Amino acid sequence: MFEALPEPKADAILSLMAAFRADTRTDKLDLGAGIYKDSQAKTPVMRAIKTAEKKLADTQDTKAYVSPTGSVPFCHAMIEQVFGRDADTSRIRAAQSVGGSGALRVLAELMKQGRPEANMWVSDPSWPNHVPLLKASGYQLYRYAYYDAASGQVNLDGMLASLSKAKEGDIVVLHGCCHNPTGADLTTDNWTRVIDLLEQKNLFPLVDLAYQGFGDGLEEDAAAVRMMASRLPEMVVAASCSKNLGLYRERVGAAMLVAQNDAEATRALGLLGGVIRANYSMPPDHGANATEIVLSDAALNADWRQELEAMRTRMIALRQSFSDAMRKRSNSDRFDYIAQQKGMFSRLPLNTQQLDTLREQHGIYIVGDGRINVAGLPEQGMDALADALCSVMADTTAAA
Ligand code: LMR
Repeated sequence: MFEALPEPKADAILSLMAAFRADTRTDKLDLGAGIYKDSQAKTPVMRAIKTAEKKLADTQDTKAYVSPTGSVPFCHAMIEQVFGRDADTSRIRAAQSVGGSGALRVLAELMKQGRPEANMWVSDPSWPNHVPLLKASGYQLYRYAYYDAASGQVNLDGMLASLSKAKEGDIVVLHGCCHNPTGADLTTDNWTRVIDLLEQKNLFPLVDLAYQGFGDGLEEDAAAVRMMASRLPEMVVAASCSKNLGLYRERVGAAMLVAQNDAEATRALGLLGGVIRANYSMPPDHGANATEIVLSDAALNADWRQELEAMRTRMIALRQSFSDAMRKRSNSDRFDYIAQQKGMFSRLPLNTQQLDTLREQHGIYIVGDGRINVAGLPEQGMDALADALCSVMADTTAAA
């Protein structure tokens, strides 16, 4: 059996995390995995979650199974958070999922039952794990143009040109906000044009909403999803609580669907429950239960929103001071785009050799495509970081 297996392929982000952990230098810097960090480089348990977990420990009186689609109040709270208070919930359903990734996986399997002949379109670039995760459902993946590295902006014309080659009924994977890995988001006008195309060609959106609250704000970051739900007959959303509730290891998310009507939504949710049952039977409960407590308690909800907002504004300030430091050290405005981009990530124009030098000589860990985690930028060490980056870029330019 096992002797016949091939060597496993390394995951770019996870292998970088392991290399960082194994590095014994005390002045090392982790700009790798998308995990929020405070000014002490710690990933905190959010205050409201801590309180909710204590409440849960005191009041929970059973660990009996919930169900494949999870807790109904949790799902309702997530629907309100993503689609807003005024949404027509008669056509929306949600299942509690194993993080945002679990939601992507089960939604893709559900869609494979509904549209087996469709192809799936993923942005170029995208989160590296989108490819194996979505391919596992049996879909053929194609890439659509997305990013213009020279300007740090979305390449809207390229995106529309690629998607106009999709065949009717194909599925388009969209990042609802805070594009991973580029930080380049569509503007409201851009979204309108993309949705026009989806409508014209009957393309089906699968929206990955992993960073709601990290870009322009909790409500603002849901605007694209809400626009799609109001204009299109059907869509699905994979929402994550990993980042905005800091619940990474608890694996909390929601697989959400918008159908044409109440009856179709109910049937689709029933089938989604079947997909979940056939995969892992039921989702874990603890993190979702704590989330439900936070979202349904007015005081905890307000405190959570306040802490989330502080995280968001800290990342905006870090973007600005990093881009200022890069402007000073590089004597150019070519890194100004970093201050304009959204969410947790931006990309630096670094090749493999430069990334290796940064890791080996400076203890700076950056993902292989040049993606940095903005939350990991050192508040007090921006100039030193900019020095290291500019020296490595200059060295290789000189050597080339
Ligand atoms: C990331 O993009 O770094 C995060 O979503 C963590 C992961 O699982 O890759």
